[in-house]
This record gives sequence, C-alpha cells and structure tokens, in this order.
Amino acid sequence: MLVEVARISELAPGGLKYVKVHGREIVLCNCDGKIFAVDNRCGHMNAPLNMGTLEGYYLTCPLHSVQFDVRTGEALNRPLYHYSGEEEAQTPPENFDNFPNWYSVLSEHIATCDLKTYRVVVEKASIKLEIKDE
Ligand code: FES
Repeated sequence: MLVEVARISELAPGGLKYVKVHGREIVLCNCDGKIFAVDNRCGHMNAPLNMGTLEGYYLTCPLHSVQFDVRTGEALNRPLYHYSGEEEAQTPPENFDNFPNWYSVLSEHIATCDLKTYRVVVEKASIKLEIKDE
C-alpha cells in the first residue's frame, strides 16, 4: 500500500524529515534530490535518527555515531564513545565514579542492527512510502 507522507517541498536537499505512518517511525532523507526512507530509531540504542546528520547517502546517529547507508539500511561501523576523560574532573558521586568506563564496556555488548528501508515513490511532488503489513 502506498501512503502519502510529505510534500517534496518539505524536504530540502541534504535534509531529514520525521514521519509517523501506521505506527512506524520513519525518517525521510533527501540525498541530493533522491528520496530514501528508513526506520527513524537507531539500530543500536534507539536514538532518533532524524536528529542525526546526513552526508551523501550516509546517515549518522547523534548518540554514538554509527553511520547507516540509507540506500540499504546497513550499519557501516561500530558505535563510538565520546569519553574524553573530562568526566573524571566533574567529581561525580562516589557510586558513579566508574560510570563512563562501565557504560563503555556494557555498550560494547549491544549489537547494532541494520535499519529497515521503505520503497519511496515521488508522484506530482508528493512523497509516498510503500507500507507492507507485517
Ligand atoms: S544509539 Fe545510535 S549509535 Fe548508539
């Protein structure tokens, strides 16, 4: 079933647009005029990908920087952790002293799944997605 989700005028080249259709959270990606659609929730820890960045065909998660190819949904790298050591200077509560290291080690064991992709049809300036019942 094709479902209209946006107008082409709502999505500038290089832009991202969140849409919710039939209960699914999807992000539209305008890659230099060609529109792609993937799940909006990161395959690592569910961060909202519409808050990430799009460069060419690569959508980068705002939380741990996994990059996804929006043409295929494939996760292209492992999560990155941004601890610089400055956290230690913030004198966290005693029971959180080791939190950055603990979090980093734990996160290494969380798999990153590829994203589901959706077929996009652009007709008369209307962006439509093919939504299949699952
Ligand atoms: S939540 Fe997206 S890379 Fe971790």
